[in-house]
Amino acid sequence: MLITGGAGFVGSNLAIALQVQHPEWSVVAADNLYRRGSELNLPRLRAAGVEFQHADVRIAGDVFALGPIDAIVEAAAEPSVMAGLGGGAGVVVQSNLVGAHHCFELAARHGAQVVFLSTSRVYPVGPLEALNYQQGETRFDISVDQEVVGVSPEGISEQFPLAGARTLYGATKLSAELLLGEYANDHGLPASINRCGVIAGPWQMGKVDQGVASHWMFSFLAGSPLSYIGFGGEGKQVRDMLHIDDLIDLIDRQLCDPDHWAGCNFNVGGGRDVSVSLLELSGICAELTGKRIEIGGQPENRPGDIPIYLSDCREIFKHSDWRPTRDAVAIMSDIRDWAVANSELLDSALN
Ligand SMILES: NC(=O)c1ccc[n+]([C@@H]2O[C@H](COP(=O)([O-])OP(=O)(O)OC[C@H]3O[C@@H](n4cnc5c(N)ncnc54)[C@H](O)[C@@H]3O)[C@@H](O)[C@H]2O)c1
Repeated sequence: MLITGGAGFVGSNLAIALQVQHPEWSVVAADNLYRRGSELNLPRLRAAGVEFQHADVRIAGDVFALGPIDAIVEAAAEPSVMAGLGGGAGVVVQSNLVGAHHCFELAARHGAQVVFLSTSRVYPVGPLEALNYQQGETRFDISVDQEVVGVSPEGISEQFPLAGARTLYGATKLSAELLLGEYANDHGLPASINRCGVIAGPWQMGKVDQGVASHWMFSFLAGSPLSYIGFGGEGKQVRDMLHIDDLIDLIDRQLCDPDHWAGCNFNVGGGRDVSVSLLELSGICAELTGKRIEIGGQPENRPGDIPIYLSDCREIFKHSDWRPTRDAVAIMSDIRDWAVANSELLDSALN
């Protein structure tokens, strides 16, 4: 069982959980340690009996040397929506698309199952910005009346139109999805794709442009100032969140029943029930830490940013009885407990 990006947030938590739940499996985590803080996960992987391989998915030889494999979860990426904006697209394209290609090629060589970690950011920015939404007291809400298909107060469904620009991050992920479709078809690989919204939980090395839940909690714990950026600077933008353990539960099911999940490409997230605005997130952090911090506002939007995203998960709910089970307070309280217990480690690695 190969997990690329296996020292990252999703990869390391997944590798450890799978090795513990399936002691008979041999789980290998491969990573080039590009993400700051990923090196902190190496002792955890070792302690759980997961083999670590230093490998760069951009280099075909590195990836092909990881076989033979029965299954691969492709979770190696530059995961920031801001990456490559205004120049320097190379790393995003190479790691997210060329790297994915190498992983699919490896899977084809060994007839392996593939689970690909994709993103809600495959949906284009323009139509998401143009959604009709209302402004409530603490958050934006998606209106019932919409001009495009695939959107409702439940969120964005798989029917949402795909035409338009979506950031380099989203474009590399969508391209990799298309490539995987071809590999699955040509080689008969059982492959499934999860288009995830915000995933959150312990061991996410959150920073301003990626891992907002951890970044918010770190700032409250450290008493560092934060800023509501864009959409009037009031913090009313909304995202759904999914606890990493809920995602692991889903991927475990997919790995254990490849035929049931072959060809699936679903939106995966906490949906409306597990969603927060930044303003609400601040309230939860203040409650959980007992601290108040200074939060400024910058009204101007960042390129590629959107006012609201909720995963409409009705398709995956029809397909399986998997459900997210942890709410926003549970997610944030797990992040707090982890960050407090590892404060010295995080300080030295991230500051
Ligand atoms: N975290 C989220 O909210 C979220 C949401 C949707 C999709 N995803 C997807 O889930 C996957 C995992 O994301 P994450 O949150 O764990 O991010 P992460 O940055 O914590 O983990 C990614 C890992 O990939 C490694 N990596 C990067 N480039 C590499 C390369 N060229 N070769 C080998 N390893 C490389 C990094 O060092 C890092 O350890 C990504 O594909 C991401 O696009 C994440």
